[in-house]
Amino acid sequence: MTQTQDYYIALEDRHGAHNYHPLPVVLAKGEGIHVWDTDGKRYYDFLSAYSAVNQGHCHPKIVKALTDQAQTLTLTSRAFYNDSLGEYEKFMTEFFKFDKVLPMNTGAEAVETALKLCRKWAYEKKGTPENQAVILFATENFHGRTIAIVSASTDPDSKGGFGPYLPGVQVIEYNNVDALETALKANPNIAGFIVEPIQGEAGVMVPDEGYLKKANELCKQYNALFIADEVQTGIARTGRLLATCGNCDCPKKNCSGTPEVKPDILILGKAVSGGVFPVSAVLADDDIMLCIKPGEHGSTFGGNPLANKVAVAALEVVRDEKLAENAYQLGKIFRERMSKIDSPIIETYRGKGLLNAVVITPFNYEGEKKTAMDVCLKLRDNGLLAKPTHDHIIRFAPPLVITEEELNAACDIIEETILSFTK
Ligand SMILES: Cc1ncc(COP(=O)(O)O)c(C=O)c1O
Repeated sequence: MTQTQDYYIALEDRHGAHNYHPLPVVLAKGEGIHVWDTDGKRYYDFLSAYSAVNQGHCHPKIVKALTDQAQTLTLTSRAFYNDSLGEYEKFMTEFFKFDKVLPMNTGAEAVETALKLCRKWAYEKKGTPENQAVILFATENFHGRTIAIVSASTDPDSKGGFGPYLPGVQVIEYNNVDALETALKANPNIAGFIVEPIQGEAGVMVPDEGYLKKANELCKQYNALFIADEVQTGIARTGRLLATCGNCDCPKKNCSGTPEVKPDILILGKAVSGGVFPVSAVLADDDIMLCIKPGEHGSTFGGNPLANKVAVAALEVVRDEKLAENAYQLGKIFRERMSKIDSPIIETYRGKGLLNAVVITPFNYEGEKKTAMDVCLKLRDNGLLAKPTHDHIIRFAPPLVITEEELNAACDIIEETILSFTK
């Protein structure tokens, strides 16, 4: 018997930790760009599980890779070799043009891996004195939830109450190359700079043109590693295979990525698996990656056969279905549609490819103060799911398999919903 949505919500509330504040809708099915709730109502998914489901829900090719492998071999650990890891590693390193890949499971784990790799490189290659390495982070960063990562957070909700914090981290202003140069100049023990090419959780903050290129050059100049966290921006989301591809025309050439800015360490997660399985990866060339030796880092599930097969299938979908090009073209249409909504409650909109945000001005409606959450609740009622980030920003990030017709239909819902608040 199907239960009411209230039943499922109460069940989670009663038995689960209260570390999330979900939009009240209980989902039971997903296919392509749509999800369905337990009452059978269909929605456009404009969150894509925080950009993990770029290939669309339950993509048949990815699901087949999972179910085929699930009947053969699921886990060996890295105590032994398996017959899919090497092929996955070859595929990944050719696809992203790095010498080596280190497989992990979640984004936060991959970030931790990159931080460890950066420190190890500093001690082994740069000659940083023991325990003196410092890694630079940007203000408003989001790299995950571990103690090391939140130690560098500037968000009080993420960081507060979890001290003592990791030493050897320093925060500099995002999108400010002068701040980066000042920090690099002041301390020869800066081992690296970790940055999101577009800050997703901060509200889709797109840095100035040329920021990443200049930051990468500065890191080279001061012998520090440039680490790109593309967990959210990668895998075609921003209209390029990677956001660090900048303005190169790789989607047109169906190129598998020679980024305009090649980071020393690239961190990927989420859509590497099309949202079908937790898969993350850290990529680097030999001089960096081989600083980590056997026994110094690992994960029981990292590089497991299910993950390997799923990730290859998911990346083939991105390439074969030209998702970067689709995100690039439809992103332009999305922002054009947003620019035409004539409403005082829209402060601004921004984004790249199909990673976009609309900033809502706090407003009154029917005598009550309203926020982005109220807009999201009405969007839900009207058949589109999106989630606020902070009080006033709504991120819109549909699966990249969306067509122009579907995007326009979804934009009609967004427009009608926003205009309804000022009628
Ligand atoms: C840029 C970035 N890095 C890391 C993470 C952490 O990924 P996970 O939630 O898989 O640990 C996220 C998650 O949203 C992210 O957006």
